[in-house]
Amino acid sequence: MNLPNLMEAKKRQSKEVLTKTNAYIVEHELKNLGLNKTYYIKTYGCQMNEHDTENIKAILEDMSFMECDNMEQADLILLNTCAIRENAHNKVFGMIGRIKNLKARRPNIIVGLCGCMAQEEIVVEEIMKKHDWLDIVFGTHNIYNLPHILAKSLNKKKLEVDVLSCEGDIIENIPVKRDSKYKAWVNIMYGCDKFCTYCIVPYTRGKQRSRMPEHILNEVKELVFDGYKEVTLLGQNVNAYGKDLNINYKMENLLEDVAKTGIERVRFVTSHPWDFTDNMIKTIKDNKNIMPYIHLPLQSGSSRILKLMGRRYTKESYLELYKKIKEALPYSSITTDIIVGFPGESEEDFLETLDVVNQCKFDSAYTFIFSPRVGTPAAKMKDDVSLDEKNNRLQRLNSLINQYSKEANDKYLNKVVPVLIEGYSEKDNHKLMGYTDTMKLVNIVGDSQNIGKIVNVKIQEIKTWSMDGEIVSDYISV
Ligand code: SAH
Ligand code: SF4
Ligand code: F3S
Repeated sequence: MNLPNLMEAKKRQSKEVLTKTNAYIVEHELKNLGLNKTYYIKTYGCQMNEHDTENIKAILEDMSFMECDNMEQADLILLNTCAIRENAHNKVFGMIGRIKNLKARRPNIIVGLCGCMAQEEIVVEEIMKKHDWLDIVFGTHNIYNLPHILAKSLNKKKLEVDVLSCEGDIIENIPVKRDSKYKAWVNIMYGCDKFCTYCIVPYTRGKQRSRMPEHILNEVKELVFDGYKEVTLLGQNVNAYGKDLNINYKMENLLEDVAKTGIERVRFVTSHPWDFTDNMIKTIKDNKNIMPYIHLPLQSGSSRILKLMGRRYTKESYLELYKKIKEALPYSSITTDIIVGFPGESEEDFLETLDVVNQCKFDSAYTFIFSPRVGTPAAKMKDDVSLDEKNNRLQRLNSLINQYSKEANDKYLNKVVPVLIEGYSEKDNHKLMGYTDTMKLVNIVGDSQNIGKIVNVKIQEIKTWSMDGEIVSDYISV
């Protein structure tokens, strides 16, 4: 048993992070552990978790498990969880209740919990106290060890908890089963050292560890070879990429080198405004295959609240950066994240947030009510804003955000834009769907032979969350 410890997770050891190219091993006797058994994984949270799920799927298939899309019928059920806000937490415990009924009917199923919630003491304590019928709990640092954790639990027929609180090394040989044949997630770094006062991620994901450039570039080159059209470089704050490596190689260098591999589309998330340099803006402008789409979380428009959040920028410096990006990349779309109801946020502070929204006119935004996370400094701050007030602010913010989203989308009417066709539309399977270079969702009338291609689409109708269009020609990249 290894139990999580948030105090330990907070420490930043000076110990060197090792890159291991052969740490993932499935011994011969574990290769058939899942023979004739199926698995189902439910993923919560961010792209990082979705990509971890792609790794976990491949690991399970290395043990002969087969994927199944119906939880009720699966022999192994895994919940890959997110700890970012209370509602994510509650959803998972709701799901555990449902699975308990399943296990009562089918006692031989194997049930596990992994991801960011597994890194939290309160979660693991609750599982050990109230749900010790689960089979495995493992964290974000030891996914590569899943075959051994699973085998141990099955042998002793008891809950096996294996969560490391100190960040792991970088394991380069974990297999991956990607959800798409056309676009791929590529981790460029793990963890986060920013410690924004409201955020649990630096505890659940550990210290910032950048992957070596050659490993990232080789992965992208293989994806190009396999016919992938788009990569999204993933990290909690990608602009800080490379700062922890002892080589003089930064995000702008990586972006440039990834663009040079010839992959047709390069995206990256998430950018922290603090590390967004002029050189990065120049690199995006100079490379046509780096997409003109930037997710630039604001969190609050009040410099006073930003300071309490530990964000390291002010309202003015955010606006300045925003202006610089828009001047260099006028066609780009910029989206954001905003939290309302941070402890002590006054009506004046909130109006500052609305002011920034009015100035930036974001293409869209994810908006949240502050959720105290145990172990973070903000959870201990005096929170004197009532829930009614928080809901009221969220509503006012959302209506402004929606107004600007619609305005931004309206500009696309009758324009011809490049779209990577990913497959059939979920809502209407007579139509195809894909995203523009600027990350707008488009539903399209056209021939299914276009799936997997980047094509020019004429936008014919603007809806609230998407657009409709028609394929007019192949896209010729310049
Ligand atoms: N690394 C990214 C954020 C990842 S979390 C960044 O720094 O931009 C995604 C979003 O969740 C954050 O941008 C923030 O808006 C929101 N969030 C994080 N912690 C939260 C909390 N405790 N309560 C409410 N929203 C939170
Ligand atoms: Fe959380 Fe801040 Fe790190 Fe983003 S940069 S993951 S908000 S601590
Ligand atoms: Fe959630 Fe962990 Fe991502 S807390 S947002 S799944 S890094």
